[in-house]
Amino acid sequence: MAEKITKGIILAAGYGTRLYPSTIVTSKLLLPVYDRPMIFYPLNVLIKGGIKDILIIVSPDHSGHFINLLGSILEKYKIQISFKVQSLPNGLPEAFILGENHIDENNVALILGDNIFENDFSSEIKNFKSGGHIFVKKVPDPERFGVVKLDAGGQAEKIVEKPKDWVSDNAITGLYLFDHQVVELAKTLKPSARGELEIVDVHNYYLHKKELALTIFEGEWLDAGSHDSLLEASLTVRDKKITGTFDPMLDEAIAEYCEKQKSLIKKRIS
Ligand code: G1P
Repeated sequence: MAEKITKGIILAAGYGTRLYPSTIVTSKLLLPVYDRPMIFYPLNVLIKGGIKDILIIVSPDHSGHFINLLGSILEKYKIQISFKVQSLPNGLPEAFILGENHIDENNVALILGDNIFENDFSSEIKNFKSGGHIFVKKVPDPERFGVVKLDAGGQAEKIVEKPKDWVSDNAITGLYLFDHQVVELAKTLKPSARGELEIVDVHNYYLHKKELALTIFEGEWLDAGSHDSLLEASLTVRDKKITGTFDPMLDEAIAEYCEKQKSLIKKRIS
């Protein structure tokens, strides 16, 4: 049974209705953040973490768009990208059920497709062994997120999804590392009052077993869910030069793909 994380999942199945009309015909994750489609940011996190087998979970209406962009872009670099359709928004942990064959007996990193990080978490991904690992940042609006209350020693003590009353301002961001137990665990979860399987139930399972590690960070964490935050994300990525820290191999693959497409277009119009 492998310990090292070899499998990654990007959850890219949302419809981004808050971004209408921009997302009426395609996924939010294919809109640009500064100089490239948003999906490249989570892809970069996984690739920098050394993950070579990546499943992208998409909605039925957008699968073709993702395949057009990513279907063969990393083939030459021995990075395998596959796709799976999520028909209904049944909650984040459904990713582990849909990804059961992909994960197999391995540990897995799940990243929400609209989460953009300034920090480099590659050492956490590469050094992961077992249990769960979450990435936490202080926010001014904790009621919008899953939050974790820390004890005096800085360990996770209590985890609550979108707390109405004050619990903590430490938000749990959309990058999660879990061991292979997560697949069977996800199958046992029951939908919450909002009708979805909840990722905090997964966190709480590992927390109660005292197997939940966390990284607290201070760098930028952007979600680009509204017109303003999408614009803000582009400006922050440009100002903080976040694309300048991309994995060189991914950068090369993107540049090559652009050249290839340009010459195809030239042939078509000549
Ligand atoms: C989800 C999770 C929440 C987490 C957030 C991060 O919330 O349920 O725990 O803090 O992602 O973006 P949602 O975006 O589904 O409201």
